[in-house]
Amino acid sequence: MPQSLTPSAVTKILGAIPLVLLWTIGYGNLFAQEQPQPRPTLGPQASPNASAPQVIDDLPASYAAGLDAPTKALVDKGRYVARLGDCVACHTGDKSKPLAGGLALTTPFGKLYSTNITPDPKTGIGRYSFEQFERVMRKGVASDGHNLYPAMPYPSYAKMSTDDLKALYAYLMKGVKPVEQANLPLGMSFPFNQRWGLALWNWAFLEGKPFEPNPQQSAQWNRGAYIVQGAGHCGACHTPRGIGFQEKAMSEAGPKGIYYLAGETVENWRALSLRGLWTPEETAEMLKTGRNRHGAVAGNMVDVVQHSTQYFTDSDLLAIGIYLKSLPPSEYDKPMQVAPNPTLAIAPPAPQGPIARAANVPVDLYTSRGGLGYLQFCNDCHRSDGAGVAGVFPPLSDNPALQQDNPATFVHIMLTGSKSAQTQTYARVLTMPSFSRLSNEEIAEIGNFVRKSWGRSESKPITTEVVADMRKELDVKKIDNRKFETPRLANMLKESNAPQLVQGARLNLETRDLLPHNVGNALNCTSCHLNAGTVADGSPYVGVSAFFPSYAPRSGRVITLADRINGCFLRSMNGKALPVDSAEMKAMIAYFDWMKRETKPEDKVEGRGVGKIDTKLVPNVANGKQIYTNQCALCHGKDGEGIQNAGRWIYPPLWGDQSFNIGAGMARTYTAAAFVKRNMPIAFHDNFPLGQGGLTDQEAVDVAEYFTHMPRPDFAAKAKDWPKDKKPFDARY
Ligand code: HEC
Ligand code: HEC
Ligand code: HEC
Ligand code: HEC
Ligand code: HEC
Repeated sequence: MPQSLTPSAVTKILGAIPLVLLWTIGYGNLFAQEQPQPRPTLGPQASPNASAPQVIDDLPASYAAGLDAPTKALVDKGRYVARLGDCVACHTGDKSKPLAGGLALTTPFGKLYSTNITPDPKTGIGRYSFEQFERVMRKGVASDGHNLYPAMPYPSYAKMSTDDLKALYAYLMKGVKPVEQANLPLGMSFPFNQRWGLALWNWAFLEGKPFEPNPQQSAQWNRGAYIVQGAGHCGACHTPRGIGFQEKAMSEAGPKGIYYLAGETVENWRALSLRGLWTPEETAEMLKTGRNRHGAVAGNMVDVVQHSTQYFTDSDLLAIGIYLKSLPPSEYDKPMQVAPNPTLAIAPPAPQGPIARAANVPVDLYTSRGGLGYLQFCNDCHRSDGAGVAGVFPPLSDNPALQQDNPATFVHIMLTGSKSAQTQTYARVLTMPSFSRLSNEEIAEIGNFVRKSWGRSESKPITTEVVADMRKELDVKKIDNRKFETPRLANMLKESNAPQLVQGARLNLETRDLLPHNVGNALNCTSCHLNAGTVADGSPYVGVSAFFPSYAPRSGRVITLADRINGCFLRSMNGKALPVDSAEMKAMIAYFDWMKRETKPEDKVEGRGVGKIDTKLVPNVANGKQIYTNQCALCHGKDGEGIQNAGRWIYPPLWGDQSFNIGAGMARTYTAAAFVKRNMPIAFHDNFPLGQGGLTDQEAVDVAEYFTHMPRPDFAAKAKDWPKDKKPFDARY
C-alpha cells in the first residue's frame, strides 16, 4: 500500500529483527477473525424474518449472589470500565463463553490466543490478586511473571486510574461467572515464541505512566483524553507505528504528540486521522450509532462501535468528541476535510431541459467508465449525487473514507464488502456486498470516479496494481459461481452508437424523469428490472431481444419487443405506450440489442426472468404483514408509500396510487413472490451486486400476498386480456 505500510508488509521488510517480529501480530488481526454477526433473527421459528432484529449484548452480567449494595455499585462501575476497554471483543473465542478467551490471532509465524479472564481459579484469572492484576494491566506481566505480547493493549491500559482498575477487578471477579476453559498454547515456533524479547520491547517502548490531567483544559476534555488514551486504546489502531511497531505517541503532548491519532493502516483498513475531527456532537453520534451525516463506520471500527462505544454514556461520548476536536491537524496525515457547507468538486450542473438532473450529479456520470460503473453498481444505495439515503445508506459525498490519500478502506470494502454496525439505534444490519466479481481495472475506475467526484480531487489515482495486491493479500473469496455474466454499462462506451446506448440505459434508470408523459406512477423500469436489467433473476435484459417477436398468451397474438416494452409501460408503469418510431423507443431497443450478445431464439438464457416459486405454498397474510414491517418498511415506507427526498423518489412504493396497477404481472402473488425471494430485501445478504434476497420461500409468498393485495390502480383494459388462453390462477382480476 502506498504511504503507510500494513503491519504484515512491514514485517516482511523487517523480518530479520526478532524484536520486531515479536510484535507482528498487528492489532487488527484480532478483528480479521471470523466473528459472525449475531443474526438479526433468533431461534428456529418457522419465519425467522418476521421479527425485529435484536441487539445482543455479550458482556456478561452474571453477578455473584448476595452482593451488598456498595460492592454491587463497584461491580457495575467495573462492568462499564470493561466496556470502555472493550475486553469482550478480544477475550471471546466462542460466543457462548464470553471472556473465556480462545480467540485466535493469526500471525505470519503462528497463532496467539487471547486468554480466559473469567474468575475460574484453574483456567482463568481467579487467583490473581489485585496487585497482580494491576501489574498485568499496566506492565503486561502475568501472575506467573511471563510477559504478554502487546497485542493485549496494556501500553494504553497503563494509563487507567487505580480506581477504575479496582472496579474492573471487582467486576471480573464478582460480576462474571467462572468458566472453565483452558488457555490454548502459543502456536508459534522459535524464535517467535521467545517471550523474553517482550521485556526488551517494554524497556524500549513502554511508557507505563498513569494518565495525568491537563489543568489548562476543562474537566470534559480531560475525561475525553483519559478514555481515548487509556481504556479506549484508540491509538492502537489510529496512531502511526514506529520501527518496533510501538505507537509513535501515546498522547497529544510532547514533541511526538503530533503523531498521536494521526492515522494508520491496520489490516488494510485505514484507521483515519482523528485529529481535529468534526463537531463533538457528530463524533458522539458516530460512536453511539455507527453513523452520522458524513458516513458510517466500516471495517474493524464496526466491532469497536458494536461491542464498546455504543454503550458509552452520552457525556463520555461528548467528552471524546471534545478531546478529538481539540487536536490540531497533523502534517503527518491529512486530516478529514469536512467543509461546513460542502462544495462538491464537480463541474457545473447539466443543462436544463427534459433531461435536467439534480445539481449535484457529477457531469461525467454518463460519459466515463468509472461513472457508468458507479451508475450500474452503486447508485441504488449511494445515489447518483452520492448523498446516500438518510438513516439507511451512508453518503459518499464528503465521506472521510474517500478523503484520504490512502485508498485502503475503499479498495478493501469493494473487495470484501462490509456489514454496518449493529447498534441500539440501528438494530437492522445492512450489507455493502462485495464487488470482487468486478475486475481490478473496474474497481480502480469506480474508485477514481468517486474520489474525484466526492472525495479529494487532488488524490493520486488508484492504480490497478494497488487493487491486485490487496486482492492477493486479503485472499478474497469468490462470491458465487453463476454462469450469468453481468453486462457492464461501462462497455457501452466502446460501441459506435454509444450515446444512443447510454440514452437507452438512462431511459430504464430514470424512466419517470425522462418520459413523464408515459409514466403514470412512481416507478422506473429499473425498479423491477434491477440495475437497468443487468441482474440475474432480476428480469435481466440479457439475450431477451433474441426472443422477440414471440407469442404472448396475455394478448393472444405474436408481439414485438416494442409491444412487450409497451406492455410494461401500460401495466407496470400505469402509463402510456411509447411510439414505436420515437427516438426513445429506438434507444431502448438498441440497449436491448446490445445485451443480446450471441443469443439465438432457441437458446435458454441463464438468469432470465425472476425464477419460479412453488405455487402450492399457501400464503399467511398476517405473517406477511410482520415481514413487511420488519424487513421492507425501512425502504418502502411504513404504509407502502416508498421513500422520497425533497419530492424526488428514492425507493418505490409497493401499493397505493403510485404503484404498479392491478393488471401487472407483479400484481400476481406468485410472480411477486418469485421476484421478492431472489431480489428483496436488498442489502440483507452478501449476494452480488445488491446484497439481495434472503427470505425463505414461504416468507416470500406471505409478504407477496400481503403487498400485492393492497389497494392499487385499476387497469381498465384488463378486460381484453387472455382472449385465447387461460388466465393464471393468481391474477388479481
Ligand atoms: C486487542 C485485544 C485485547 C483487548 C481489547 C484486551 N485484551 Fe487482554 N489479552 C489479549 C491477548 C492476546 C492476551 C494474551 C497475550 C499473550 O498471551 O501474550 C491477553 C491477556 C490478558 C490477561 C492475562 C491473563 C492471563 O492469562 O494471565 C489479562 C488479565 C487481560 N488480558 C485482561 C484484559 C482486560 C481486563 C481487558 C479489557 C480492559 C482486556 N484484556 C482487553 C488481548 C486483548
Ligand atoms: C481495531 C482498530 C480500531 C480501534 C481500536 C479504534 N478504531 Fe476508530 N476506526 C478504525 C478504522 C479502520 C476506521 C475507518 C473506518 C471507515 O472508514 O469507515 C475508524 C474510524 C473511526 C472514526 C471515523 C468514522 C468514519 O468511518 O468516518 C472515528 C470517529 C473513530 N474511528 C473513533 C475511534 C475512537 C474514539 C476509538 C477508541 C475508543 C477508536 N476509533 C478505536 C479502527 C479502529
Ligand atoms: C446494496 C447496497 C449497497 C451498494 C449497492 C453499495 N453499497 Fe457501499 N455501502 C453500503 C452500506 C450498507 C455501507 C456501510 C457499511 C458499513 O457500515 O460497514 C456502505 C459503505 C460504503 C463505503 C464506506 C463508507 C464509510 O462511511 O466508511 C464506501 C466507500 C462505499 N460503500 C462505496 C460503494 C461503491 C463504490 C459502490 C458501488 C461499487 C457501493 N458502495 C455499492 C451499501 C451499498
Ligand atoms: C412493477 C414492475 C415492473 C416495471 C416497473 C417494469 N417491468 Fe418489465 N417486467 C416485469 C415483470 C414482472 C416481467 C415478467 C418477468 C418474468 O416473469 O419473467 C417483465 C417483463 C419485461 C420484459 C420481457 C422480459 C423477458 O425476459 O421476456 C421486457 C422486455 C420488459 N419487462 C421491459 C420493461 C421496460 C422497458 C420497463 C420500463 C418501461 C419495464 N419493463 C418496467 C415487471 C416490471
Ligand atoms: C434496503 C432497501 C430495501 C429493502 C429493505 C427492500 N427493498 Fe424492495 N426495493 C428496493 C430497491 C432499491 C428496489 C429497486 C428500485 C430501484 O432501483 O429504483 C426495490 C424494488 C422492489 C419491488 C419492485 C418495485 C415496486 O415498487 O413494486 C418490490 C415488489 C419490492 N421491492 C418489494 C420488497 C419487499 C417485499 C421487501 C421486504 C421483504 C423489500 N422490497 C425490501 C429497496 C429495498
